[in-house]
Amino acid sequence: MPAYAIIGGQWGDEGKGKVVDFLSEKAHIVARFNGGNNAGHTVVTDAGEFKFHLIPVGILRPEITCIIGNGVVVNPDAFLAEVRGLQAVSVDVSRLFISDKAHVIMPYHTMLDGLEEEVRAEGGKAIGTTGMGIGPAYMDKAARMGIRMVDLLLDERALLARLSFVLEQKNAQITKLYGREPLSLEDTLIKCLEWGRDLKSYVRAVEPMIQDALAAGQRIILEGAQGTMLDLDHGTYPYVTSSSPTVGGACVGLGISPMHVKEVAGVYKAYTTRVGSGPLPTELNNEVGEFIRERAWEYGTTTGRPRRCGWFDAVAARYSATVNGVTSAILTRLDVLDGISPVRVCVAYRLNGEIVSGFPTDAPTLEACEPVYEDLPGWETPTASARDIADLPKEALNYMRRLEELIGCSIGVVSTGPGREEAIVLKSIF
Ligand code: GDP
Ligand code: IMO
Ligand code: MG
Repeated sequence: MPAYAIIGGQWGDEGKGKVVDFLSEKAHIVARFNGGNNAGHTVVTDAGEFKFHLIPVGILRPEITCIIGNGVVVNPDAFLAEVRGLQAVSVDVSRLFISDKAHVIMPYHTMLDGLEEEVRAEGGKAIGTTGMGIGPAYMDKAARMGIRMVDLLLDERALLARLSFVLEQKNAQITKLYGREPLSLEDTLIKCLEWGRDLKSYVRAVEPMIQDALAAGQRIILEGAQGTMLDLDHGTYPYVTSSSPTVGGACVGLGISPMHVKEVAGVYKAYTTRVGSGPLPTELNNEVGEFIRERAWEYGTTTGRPRRCGWFDAVAARYSATVNGVTSAILTRLDVLDGISPVRVCVAYRLNGEIVSGFPTDAPTLEACEPVYEDLPGWETPTASARDIADLPKEALNYMRRLEELIGCSIGVVSTGPGREEAIVLKSIF
């Protein structure tokens, strides 16, 4: 009755989509448990490149059931657009379900995300959110004034009663705090009723489906969005997202016991990237960073923003492995480092001349930390598309061994390209 959690080990975009797609060949269910359409998961198959924001990448495999769990916040328009995009290329979406407990990203959430960012930017403290309404939607969930999927299925009168209370609060904020025009209750109601009609066939109590699958011994892949360093509790607060991308979030966000999670695979890129603001100790504001960004096309899947690039940060990686109890590391994009020498790894942080113990809690402290680097020889023989460990040059293997020591966990899979087959399994995850 195993569940396998695929967790971002850094600041997101580690290649979780590729990894989940690769592993899902042997799965029965793929389920998303956190975040919303702030995520951008890329999968490359013979049929082309697919960019997922909300729908689990398992949908590409016809035999897999895909679930969007209670921990996800769903923008119905974004969901329906993604469904239409898949249908247009003949992907069957009849095996796709959304938890009736998942919260809805409402029009005022996206609006407030933008307005809040504008205010923060004036104080030089913009988070650089994706602008998808994620933070405001989770705020309302915690404030117990969210609209859930189940509410969209209510009749008009009941829905109007729910909405009129919430919209009154939101419009007070929009007009009094931000001086903007209020949202129309009638328009919002019509939108919700339409969403209810369009989403009805997808919405259900998904938890029993998951429990039954676990009881039947089926394999469930828990597809994380974002990454541990963006976790609301454990990340580089306040420069984080508003959900829990860690393994704890997987249990809460799907309603499963931690006892069912057999493996926690931490996905790490062979270097580091971050989109948006916040500390990034190994950031390379030079031609090497630029080279990596261009070679690897490190531009956001969701917003198109350039990703900030840097060397592998083993301090952050070890911290995230500990927070999640990572049982296997999965290393992606090793090929991006082909031909770069030396390859640097941050093995410690130094603050005011002293080596820092533990991972700094507050952003200004982390910002002030200087990375302590260890240089490793690069490799000339390309690793790109390698499918056998014997094809990896010894310097690349040395780099991997050193990362294992530093992360504190062995590498189960190394990915050598975006394609489905471009990976080497060193230790089976299942
Ligand atoms: P996610 O958000 O963690 O799913 O990652 P993204 O999809 O946002 O970004 C990862 C990018 O790296 C995508 O464009 C993938 O196609 C690509 N990718 C994944 N693994 C590899 C790899 O091993 N090598 C190369 N060159 N690209 C990869
Ligand atoms: P995947 O699943 C990388 C970042 C944003 C911003 C911060 C908060 O593709 O790895 P939000 O809109 O969530 O309130 O923004 O989090 N962020 C991501 N960065 N990958 C992601 O998802 C991200 N989702 C959010 O850039 O800094
Ligand atoms: Mg991404």
